[in-house]
Amino acid sequence: MRVSTGIPGLDRLMGGGFEEGTVNLVSGKTGTGKSIFCSQFAYDGVMKHKQKAIYITTEETANNIKRQVKNFGWDIETLEKKGWLSVIEFEPFDVSTLTTKLQEIIDKMDAKRVVIDSVSMFELYLTNVFEIRKALFKVIQKIREMNRVGLVTAEVLEDSNSLSRFGVIEFMVDSIVLLQYLGLAKYKRSLMIRKMRMGDHSTNIHPFEISKKGISILK
Ligand SMILES: Nc1ncnc2c1ncn2[C@@H]1O[C@H](COP(=O)(O)OP(=O)(O)O)[C@@H](O)[C@H]1O
Ligand SMILES: [Mg+2]
Repeated sequence: MRVSTGIPGLDRLMGGGFEEGTVNLVSGKTGTGKSIFCSQFAYDGVMKHKQKAIYITTEETANNIKRQVKNFGWDIETLEKKGWLSVIEFEPFDVSTLTTKLQEIIDKMDAKRVVIDSVSMFELYLTNVFEIRKALFKVIQKIREMNRVGLVTAEVLEDSNSLSRFGVIEFMVDSIVLLQYLGLAKYKRSLMIRKMRMGDHSTNIHPFEISKKGISILK
């Protein structure tokens, strides 16, 4: 079954949206819209599809995440009070406990959509690279096993053409959406689907905008 991305115009480019039981990556430099994408995926899932969502934030406070999307009219706090959505701050150095914690919360809430924004923070704790990668792989496998839909973000450094800071997460996920920002171009923001394990997808560059309704693909 496909699960809508929540981004108007994007599902069509991805053969109907994200596949159930997969983990999907949104990558891009800072300010490209990764966190808004995550909030939109979670909020839209609750509002339009009655699918509960968990939003793990490792870089920003939960309050910042909620405040940012108030401008779009998305009231995450009310959804939290009703038990439909949960924004949880997670300390990156705790990565070894992430899988168990996440499994507990998924079960408790019966959440369908699981966001981790971002995984770059885990990899910044480079004291034991191997352990961190193992933990990341474990959490991704758990989301797949539980037949949920995962959305993770990764930061791309300013002067880099790669898909993530450490060049690892892109090999673990089932699909990759790359967000780009070109300040001087006619269309300032664009998006590209760089990988999709399940089925057909667009290979073009698609301009998008962030307006008062959030992210949408421009035609
Ligand atoms: N209400 C809004 N209207 C238009 N653009 C916005 C709005 N809110 C945020 N943005 C844009 O989104 C960017 C931040 O997006 P965000 O998802 O936080 O980026 P990332 O997580 O990739 O660093 C801001 O730099 C700004 O350009
Ligand atoms: Mg962000």
